[in-house]
Amino acid sequence: MALKHKISVVVLAAGEGTRMKSGTPKVLHLLCGRPMVDYVLDAAAGVEPQAIVVVIGHMGEEVAGRISQGWAKTNRMSQILRFAWQREQRGTGHAVACALDQVPDCDHVMILCGDTPLITGNLLRSFFESHLSAKADVSLITAVVDDPGDYGRIRRNEKGNILGIVEANDLLPEDRHIREINAGIYVVRRNILAELVSQLDDNNAKGEFYLTDIVEKAARAGYTVSSFSCDDICLVQGVNDRYALSQAESRLRQAILRKLCLEGITIRDPGNTYIDPGVTIGRDTIIEPGTFLRGKTTIGAGCVIGPNTELIDSHIGDRSKVWFSVVERSVIGENVVIGPFAHIRPDCVIEDNVSIGNFAEVKNSRIGRGTKVHHHSYLGDSIIGSQVNIGAGTVTVNYDGHKKHMTVIEDNAFIGCNANLIAPVRIGKDSYVAAGSTITQDVPEGALGIARERQVNKEGWVARRKHKLN
Ligand code: UD1
Ligand code: CA
Repeated sequence: MALKHKISVVVLAAGEGTRMKSGTPKVLHLLCGRPMVDYVLDAAAGVEPQAIVVVIGHMGEEVAGRISQGWAKTNRMSQILRFAWQREQRGTGHAVACALDQVPDCDHVMILCGDTPLITGNLLRSFFESHLSAKADVSLITAVVDDPGDYGRIRRNEKGNILGIVEANDLLPEDRHIREINAGIYVVRRNILAELVSQLDDNNAKGEFYLTDIVEKAARAGYTVSSFSCDDICLVQGVNDRYALSQAESRLRQAILRKLCLEGITIRDPGNTYIDPGVTIGRDTIIEPGTFLRGKTTIGAGCVIGPNTELIDSHIGDRSKVWFSVVERSVIGENVVIGPFAHIRPDCVIEDNVSIGNFAEVKNSRIGRGTKVHHHSYLGDSIIGSQVNIGAGTVTVNYDGHKKHMTVIEDNAFIGCNANLIAPVRIGKDSYVAAGSTITQDVPEGALGIARERQVNKEGWVARRKHKLN
């Protein structure tokens, strides 16, 4: 639904995240393979804002770079995305003050924290609608919890009206019973935001300009302050340390797995399966335990993936099986078997009905239909035709110490065991390469290439040696 009021979103992402104890800025920590802030930006996009202003500070270039090159590009949001610098991190209120210049003329401003990755566009839309229907000047999301921990607490008067927010570090004895917390998500009417923020001071336990204090300022000034209660605290959980990060990731992961299960995918052990949010899987595919499906991976229908398999940005065609293996940035056809113990490195195209397994490594290669690559082989920088048999221990010798060279093996060729194919080289259609050969020249179509010492048997050698030794 299109919302008829103009809104902009400010995302606070300038803090270091001291409690993460990390060299990586907090909002760039990954959750199921994506930076935390991306989830917040996804949700922000859900309210169809005129602009999204991200406040950056600590390692701001990295944060801005990652967002512009990643989220904004993928979602085509560069046009509405802006960055505002907060050079010194003097608190959430100060961060909003730094963003004001970048916020366009609009009716309302929604303020989000970059460290609440489980919020959703649906939640934010409902929140905004409730702000509008309450005709509120300031609205905030709250939740009632058993253990309010580090969250700011909501102070109300006996009538239930909000008086303000008190931070965990500044609690007075009479605040200790409060179980209603501030989720750190607000909507403020654009034309009073600057006025409220300008009244903040840093007279508190942390010596920071708290954004939370605008609520008390608004209430005192007689503005309408309204709250929107979220019954699922998980959705608004703030991630301040690595334990909260792991909890948020596990919630997100279970939500991804649940959705896939309901779409007709069997996930044998959801406690031991790791699937990124961008992954798609067809019906009746079975995911065995110990499986990691990362990035933009897509899997067809009726496949078996795992156990103990990692697929990164790869496509797997229908009815294929990948077990105990790793596939990176490659395209795998239908009815293919990969594994056990295969490594498909980037830039491979594996056509239908191929089987690759038992300690085989393939890199930057195209492998034609029905070809078999079994037992301890290495195929790098190669083009392999259809119905080729790659014998045990076959190696494409693609690297001369300076450059990589191509190996071409045409349809129906048969490569015997332990052959070295010194690239650049071409093995013709229907040809054979004898086991143990080191092939340095092209093998013509239909020929047998044999390149090894002839065998010599020395009759009676053992007896003669024994005699000498005595
Ligand atoms: C904040 C709220 C608290 C609320 C909680 C919800 C304040 C003072 N407190 O606490 O009431 O319950 O969120 O999760 O707002 N940031 C900046 N610049 C700064 C400081 C922070 O951009 O100078 C950013 C951080 O990067 C972070 C967000 O603001 O993304 C929140 O800051 P954080 O320090 O995590 O606040 P909390 O202590 O969690
Ligand atoms: Ca926080």
